[in-house]
Amino acid sequence: MNRAINEFVAMADVRDMYMAHTMLRREFRLLTQAVRNVAPGNIKQASVVGAHIHLVCGILHLHHEGEDLVLWPLLLERGGQETAAIVPTMEEQHLVIHRAYDEVTGLLPGWRATGRGGEKLTGALERLLTGLVKHLALEEKEILPLAEKYVTAAEWNQLAEHGFAKSAKSTLPLTFGMAMYEADSELIKDLLAQAPPPARVIMLLLGPRLYAARAKRVYGTPTPPRIGA
Ligand SMILES: [Fe+2]
Repeated sequence: MNRAINEFVAMADVRDMYMAHTMLRREFRLLTQAVRNVAPGNIKQASVVGAHIHLVCGILHLHHEGEDLVLWPLLLERGGQETAAIVPTMEEQHLVIHRAYDEVTGLLPGWRATGRGGEKLTGALERLLTGLVKHLALEEKEILPLAEKYVTAAEWNQLAEHGFAKSAKSTLPLTFGMAMYEADSELIKDLLAQAPPPARVIMLLLGPRLYAARAKRVYGTPTPPRIGA
């Protein structure tokens, strides 16, 4: 992008990406342990934990799909050698993570229905978590500074819009509450600034309560350990 244009165009504010990454790292780490904690044959708890795995896997899928469709092409188009050196690594890491993701989503229905086969599911979640932690750290170190440099704020917002458009609307307050759990209040205020007042109230009041209730059922506490950024 032309430097002269950059002076007049708001560029990407990437703080929401750190918020999403913190949520994904925390939830997959906690979920791996939550599956371990379900006694074989405990269908009731497998179904509770399984529903949360299903939700968080869906969020991860949309998060990566948005990057594949919106972010990588923009960076490759604008960043020359600088982005050509790192974007293919990001794409490869997405493939590795999604192999483990496919394993998890393949094993999930059977485990949810029977409470059996938890070891295999835990193994797949561990592989997913290992790939994800490595990928998110590299993305934060190498990609986010490039996004701030080459991607406009309007283009960046397409990532969140992609997620909103393809999510079931009923899941949004819980998802937002889960994302808010470790986010700073300034960022939350900025993210909700454009939302209509009723949506703002729903997200701020209902979101954290829904997450606390979900965490209590899945992890046994309404305040699961924070992992920090
Ligand atoms: Fe990301």
